[in-house]
Formats: sequence, structure tokens, C-alpha cells
Amino acid sequence: MLLLVVLAWLLSVPVAAAPALANGLATTPPMGWNSWNQVRCYDLTEDVVKKAADALADDGLRDAGYRYVVVDDCWQAPARAADGSLQADPARFPHGIADLADYVHSRGLLFGIYAVPGSRTCAMANDAYPAAGIGSLGHERQDAETFDRWGVDYLKYDWCNADTVDGLDRRAAFEKMRDELAALPRPIVYAISEYGVSSPWTWARPVANLWRTTYDLIPTWDSVLATIDQQAAVAVHSGAPGGWNDPDMLQVGNGTLTADEARAHFSVWAVLNAPLFAGTDPAKLSDDDLATLGNPEAIAVDQDFASGQGRQLTAGPGYQVWGKPLTGGGFAVVLLNTGTTTATVSATVPGAWNVRDLWAHRDVGTAVSASLRPHAAALLKLTPR
Ligand code: GLA
Repeated sequence: MLLLVVLAWLLSVPVAAAPALANGLATTPPMGWNSWNQVRCYDLTEDVVKKAADALADDGLRDAGYRYVVVDDCWQAPARAADGSLQADPARFPHGIADLADYVHSRGLLFGIYAVPGSRTCAMANDAYPAAGIGSLGHERQDAETFDRWGVDYLKYDWCNADTVDGLDRRAAFEKMRDELAALPRPIVYAISEYGVSSPWTWARPVANLWRTTYDLIPTWDSVLATIDQQAAVAVHSGAPGGWNDPDMLQVGNGTLTADEARAHFSVWAVLNAPLFAGTDPAKLSDDDLATLGNPEAIAVDQDFASGQGRQLTAGPGYQVWGKPLTGGGFAVVLLNTGTTTATVSATVPGAWNVRDLWAHRDVGTAVSASLRPHAAALLKLTPR
């Protein structure tokens, strides 16, 4: 199929965005590893986290940019300590969180943790996690100070029905923790998650460094494609340094995703300037998945915010084309075959371009075109000829 893609919007002046949260952090989309997509709840241990940190350091992913090691839900002991502070589950984290953060730091990585603004974490609701009182409601300052003391560099603050359960207002609750973090000496990236329900892309830029735009991504092609489709509407509210749309953590290496599907997933996340959080065991990556997560040319696209995140340029039965401007006057283009048979997806892009295939790592001439297996994507870099 031959498509004419007009890139005029890419050349237009971007709409001025509200100023980002002024903490000077996440000037490029944050990258790292998060425990949730790998072990979910009950299998989370300090050992899992240490092994992930070791693998990131040893297999090159840390040096490719995956810096934040984030412990998601289910790290908490079933109740707070006598002084009201949060504490780690003593069986699964026998050395405590400060010790774990030290270890992560010793591997040249940064450390992140999970908390919620209401009274219940998502795992309490969705995984029957047997705990009480471990939400930060009424403990915001104390928890922020605990995180500071422990050496936390990144906080994932997750909504989990705090409106229906606790009567909280999203923006006010997220601002409350933002202000507590701002009062700390320690720089802490602030990632908020309310699944895109209240269109956070319209209000969260001064509140957080990143905000989820969707419900959870699961490791199937249908979920990846549904999430990609949702980003088409959101992308016009483009991210900007310090404030990023977050289409959820990566499922590369998980579930039923094939190598082609994982690469297509990663390609679109890259043009979206999405935060890149691996969620699979970095010590057990297949060669394909390591090449996908660690592709320096794809990561460079993700980390390059020239004047707008990627947008869907055209889509139809069996294909999508996404693109975004790159620093230096070029473009990144994703050609995606969403169909069930091999197809050639081509785009006629006004101008004269040298085209490089960022998965094949070679220059492929001047045509913006690729023959693609079902659910495969080409990630192309166009530089002016
Ligand atoms: C929600 C979030 C997930 C994860 C879980 C933890 O579902 O969207 O990313 O943090 O909660 O319970």
C-alpha cells in the first residue's frame, strides 16, 4: 500500500505548553526497570531487585540509559510502624529499603519506589494484598521524609480509586505530594498515575514529571495496539522536557509478544518520547529482546525531543504511520503493519531524505518504505539530503 503522508504539521510551530514542574528532573524521558510487569506482587523481593540492578549494570542496559530501578507495589509491610512510618515487608525485604537503595546506587543506578495518595494501594484492591493503612493519606510529609531518608530518587504515586474510596480530588492530591517532595533536599522524579481518566495531559505538566495516559498495558498485541490507538488522541498535547505523557511501562520480553511485536511496541514508544521502563527479567533477556531494549538508535529517538512528541500521521486497515521531528531537521517515522499478512507500507514524504533503518542499523536509500511481517514495524530516521 502506498500512502501519502503530509508532514506539514511537523513543520508548524508547536503550541506553547504550560511550564513543566520546576524540579529540573526528567529533562529527557526517564528510563529504567520496574518490578511490576516482571513479578507483579507476591514475588517481589529484595533479591529480585538486586538481581535486576546487577543485570542492568552488567548487560549494558544501564549504560544505554536505563537508570532508575523502581520497586512497585507490594514492598510494604502489612502495617505502618509504631511511629506511623512506612516499613518494608520484613520477610521479602529483610535488609530494608535504605539498604536496597544503597545497593542500587552502588551499581551506578538510581532508586525508585511506589506509593499512593489514598488509603489503599492498587494491589490491596486488585491482588488482595493483606495490608492496612499503607496509603500516604494523612502521612504525606512523613512518607516523603522517609523516602528522602532512604535515598529514593523516583516516586511512582498511583491513584488506585482514591476518589471513590477516600473522596480525594486528583489534582489536589497529586499536588500535595508534589509540594512535600519539593520541600526535601533530595531531587525525586515524580511520576503520577491515574490511567488517563481525567485527561492529565491537560493539567499535570506543572504537577509531575510524567503522567500515565492509559490503564495498564498487558503483554498481548491487542493491548499494545489499543494503547497505541489511544495515544493518537493524546499526542497533540505534546510532552516537553520535564513533563511526559506515559503510555505505561514496557512489556518487551513478556507474555505473548513476538520479537516483531515487541519491536513495534518499542518503535512507537520511541517516537512518543515515552518513559522507557523495562518490566522483564533483565538477566534472562533473549538476544532479540536485549537488542530491542538496548538499541541505541531507537533510544536516541526516544530521548530526542525536538518540538513535539510523535503523532499518528495516517492510519487505515492494516497500517499506521507515526512520525516526529528530530533535532537537526530530520524526522523519525514508524511504519507499522497492523494486519495479518506481510505488506509493504510506504509513505511519500515531501522533501528529499536519506533514510536509515534503525532496527537494521543501515542506510536504506531515499524511499520511506518497508516490507513488514504482520505486526512488525520499521523505525526510520530521515535526514535532509
Ligand atoms: C496499578 C498501576 C500499575 C501497578 C499496580 C500496582 O495497576 O497502573 O502500574 O503500579 O497498580 O498495584
